[in-house]
Amino acid sequence: MLSEKIIEEDKQGQAIVTLNKEGNTKKLFIESYGCQMNMSDSEIVASILSEEGFDTTPNLEDADLVLVNTCSIREKAEQTIRKRLQKYNRVKRINPAMKIGVLGCMAERLKTKFLEEEKAVDLVVGPDAYRDLPNLVREVEAGKDAINVILSKEETYGDVTPVRLNTNGVSAFISITRGCDNMCTFCVVPFTRGRERSRDPKSIVEEAQDLWNKGYKEITLLGQNVDSYLWYGGGLKKDFDKASDIAKATAVDFAKLMEMVALAVPKIRIRFATSNPQDMSLDVLHTMAKYDNICKYIHLPVQSGSTRILEKMNRQHTREEYMELIDNVKKIIPNCAISQDMIVGFCGETEEDHQDTLSLMEYVKYDFGFMFAYSERPGTLAAKKLEDDVPMEVKKRRLSEIINLQQKHSLYHMEKMVGKTVEVLIEGNSKKSDTHWMGRTTQNAVVVFPKGEEKIGDMVMVKVEDCTSATLLGTKI
Ligand code: SAH
Ligand code: F3S
Repeated sequence: MLSEKIIEEDKQGQAIVTLNKEGNTKKLFIESYGCQMNMSDSEIVASILSEEGFDTTPNLEDADLVLVNTCSIREKAEQTIRKRLQKYNRVKRINPAMKIGVLGCMAERLKTKFLEEEKAVDLVVGPDAYRDLPNLVREVEAGKDAINVILSKEETYGDVTPVRLNTNGVSAFISITRGCDNMCTFCVVPFTRGRERSRDPKSIVEEAQDLWNKGYKEITLLGQNVDSYLWYGGGLKKDFDKASDIAKATAVDFAKLMEMVALAVPKIRIRFATSNPQDMSLDVLHTMAKYDNICKYIHLPVQSGSTRILEKMNRQHTREEYMELIDNVKKIIPNCAISQDMIVGFCGETEEDHQDTLSLMEYVKYDFGFMFAYSERPGTLAAKKLEDDVPMEVKKRRLSEIINLQQKHSLYHMEKMVGKTVEVLIEGNSKKSDTHWMGRTTQNAVVVFPKGEEKIGDMVMVKVEDCTSATLLGTKI
């Protein structure tokens, strides 16, 4: 039997949850870097290892096994992990019995190189091989190095009940697809996470119901490309054409999946990430509009406002097609917030292309944004075929221009909310003050307000009185 024990509450009200299973004697310290998918995968890993005698610990120094779930998306992400490994190394010098494992995208990208380059690393496991962890850990405990970086056609971990780590007890992730078939030329993900496959909708709905029964109030359906979700009995998305007529006729797409979840847990808030413009169907938008419990927020990365650059990136749409999608979002879900991911300084990006990005941002007026300077990733098509020719100073200048514009737009949206009353799900303490709550609106805007009798997980109405570009400030009514 599993029991989750809350051992510490930090300033944000984020309870750090450790797993304690009867009979478990070994200690696992697990950390995640990068995307939400990695956070979710670490919860699957903790669950698999709990069957192998491991409880989790928040203290590195206490660990028998240290696992770091890694990110390869930009060079800087990999540098951060390398630094973290140095820290583990220092602890290992004091406790030589401690074993160190690398999981996730860097494990998949670097494979055996990790064991050669980082002497302290004992274990290397790619994103599709976590089920093999019990065997691999046994090998490591016997004094050998162990590695499994095989990518799978079927693995979705659909039957693994994740152990919720670092949870506030209010929001949880549910992974619905794995891998990505899009092959954007700048992106390392298709190489590190393999081909796209979807998880059985039944297991997704059951996980959502289970979370609701445990008191969770919000779920985020996760995938690299959720709109591409397609269940036809299992297997790779690219093999759908080969499926039987019955499998095709009864297939479940993302709009249908969301509807199933929305109906099965009618009071839970549903979010999803990430959407890809070319795969987002109007059905998805209509489903969002139809169900109150689906949050009115879409993270819709575009990467560039220039059709010429979009083509070089192998994004499957033009600037105009993206604008049309945005028009549809605004028409079908008038109160929907939209956010972007943007890359500046991609190969061959001219000043004119950059101006196209700025003008697209003006057109959409995104509520939020995540903006990056292009970082060449080994093995990608861009690294092989295109020249990383925009100088770093130019990348930095363009990046600060789009960040400034985004801030202006974020402020514009926040200011529009002042004077209005919004529904807020309380997630925990405000970062700055124990006497204030922090929560979010359906549009994902952060709201901070003075505490009263309410508690974490409550849905409350807040009158917005003031704002910054990132936060709404108000009073509960
Ligand atoms: N579909 C994925 C995208 C993962 S990568 C998802 O679930 O979010 C997240 C963002 O990182 C991308 O949208 C892109 O804006 C950025 N990114 C990816 N590769 C990059 C690179 N080589 N250099 C800079 N930014 C990159
Ligand atoms: Fe990467 Fe493009 Fe897929 S950004 S994760 S290849 S949609």
